[in-house]
Amino acid sequence: MISKETIEQVIARNDIEDLIGSYVTLKRAGSNLKGLCPFHSEKTPSFTVYPQDNSFYCFGCGAGGDAITFIRKRENLDYPDAVEFLANRAGITIVRDESKGSYSPTPKYDRAKMLKMNVDAAKYFHSCLFSDNPDARAALDYFVNKRGLSVATIKHFGLGFAPNSFDVFSKYMLNKGYTYDELVAGFLCGRSEKGKYYDAFRNRVMFPIIDASGNVIAFGGRVMDDSKPKYKNSSDTPVFKKSRNLFALNFARLTCQEAMILCEGYMDVIAMHSAGFTNAVATLGTAITSEQARMMSRYTKKVIISYDADEAGQKAAMRATKMLTDVGLEVTILKVPGAKDPDEYIKANGAEKFKALLESSKSRFDYNMDNILAKHDISVPAERIKALHSLEKLISETYSAAERDIYIRVVATNLDIDAKSIKSDVDRLIRAAAYNRRKEESEKIKQNTVGYSDRVNPDYIKAPAVAKHEENVLGFLLLFEEHRKKVFEGGLLSEDDFFTDLSKRVFSYLFDCYQRGEDYNINLNDSFSADEVGRIIKMRLSRMAMTDNGDTVLLEAIESLRLSVRKNASKTNQSLEALRELLNNKRETKNKENTNEQR
Ligand code: GTP
Ligand code: MN
Repeated sequence: MISKETIEQVIARNDIEDLIGSYVTLKRAGSNLKGLCPFHSEKTPSFTVYPQDNSFYCFGCGAGGDAITFIRKRENLDYPDAVEFLANRAGITIVRDESKGSYSPTPKYDRAKMLKMNVDAAKYFHSCLFSDNPDARAALDYFVNKRGLSVATIKHFGLGFAPNSFDVFSKYMLNKGYTYDELVAGFLCGRSEKGKYYDAFRNRVMFPIIDASGNVIAFGGRVMDDSKPKYKNSSDTPVFKKSRNLFALNFARLTCQEAMILCEGYMDVIAMHSAGFTNAVATLGTAITSEQARMMSRYTKKVIISYDADEAGQKAAMRATKMLTDVGLEVTILKVPGAKDPDEYIKANGAEKFKALLESSKSRFDYNMDNILAKHDISVPAERIKALHSLEKLISETYSAAERDIYIRVVATNLDIDAKSIKSDVDRLIRAAAYNRRKEESEKIKQNTVGYSDRVNPDYIKAPAVAKHEENVLGFLLLFEEHRKKVFEGGLLSEDDFFTDLSKRVFSYLFDCYQRGEDYNINLNDSFSADEVGRIIKMRLSRMAMTDNGDTVLLEAIESLRLSVRKNASKTNQSLEALRELLNNKRETKNKENTNEQR
């Protein structure tokens, strides 16, 4: 059980507009905000955020709830982890008592102290790199001679070396006043199954990760030979989320107003910065996340993706392109010729050549067109047609009509085909895609609102009329405290008056909260699945949309519910009776057969 105070704090400190805005591009619509739903694919926004009551709801797919529900669904976390995620996000550290599964809102780790601990660690690693023993010499030699870094670059990035020892680093840190507990939480120490503590980074060259405000928040450590794993990176800590930070953003933010270069590796970024391209950043050992994409869109207008030249790198580049264009960034893709990665290319060819390469980096279209044309021999008619079809599909996925016109002309020239016929093909593809999308969306809506194959409330289909009345009545109760008071204290309804299991549960949940004098919103996510929370929000919203929510309408709704339940029951009785009759008939025939056989 998570305490009420924790939930309240977590909700209060995570502004819903800001939270959802970091995943979805929201546009103001009156007092609400609208955007494209992150939970189903749609082209016209039906996803709405209601800042006044800290909730969201998608009229397309029926997802809805509060900040916690959003994170449960979006990050695919269970309830306690979603709370923890939001707590971390807001800088509230909550203590999780694993044995009891309980939480307390008292910060266990002091954020300022954790950050200071990282600075002390970074300084320690940095000084180790320049110390006077053979291991350290080898590390400095690796950076300077193997990787061609200048001492100035090493100092600029605060690179370091973690000594080849299990405890020399932790002893030093304990001496500085940090506890094992803090060192483990900060991913600087590990704890063995037997309970022995050890330094997390050993005999590795160290890359401190620094956030945009200049805090050292994490580390990456690389081996100096071919052993595995090549890198060890901090996992998430109370002061670090790898999905929400970028390597070298502290420098890049100063020069990236026009464009930013996105790399895969720390070494690529370092090579670029030392060659003068100080607008380069890298993700932290993972594929780019939508949070990172959104973050980048706040710093720059255009991103040049410069990943490794191998197939994995190029595939990752295509995925990153989608992620970045989705947040409105202009994207081009750069492929380094004759080198495995940008680092190697710069070392081999110098900054000038790399600059020319940057300038010739290609849009998604050009990049893909080159690949398609390279794949097909267009002097062979069948191959020329295949290339044409791929290119038409590519053009049809371009949003801007003006851009499409330009691409159509390029393809017409390249393949020597009439631009008009290409255009009519492309238009047809666009219409077909739009038709499929609308069909998909309306299917979704049907499934979610009519209760036809309703996943959230499987009982719905057994008695749709009853379920509709139930939702209506529950809407009143969800909306107004006075209605809850009237119904609960007057004993106007009981759980037994409801037919579907979900409605029964919602009713008794509201009743319990009322009796305990608690706001029902607090534990909603603890008591219901994320999809069920969405349905509950829908019930409240549907009622809210009505002009009259007074007592008379409520009483009428209750009456209609009772009537529909009774009607349903008599229908069920009828069908039960019919069934019995059938069964009896069958049994009789069977008996007769049996007696015949015995004869
Ligand atoms: P070099 O081999 O030194 O050129 O490294 P790089 O920085 O260019 O890295 P690479 O392109 O091989 O990988 C990209 C990023 O993925 C690295 O910067 C790391 O953050 C991460 N990474 C690579 N290998 C590993 C690994 O073995 N474990 C983990 N956790 N992360 C890795
Ligand atoms: Mn590399």
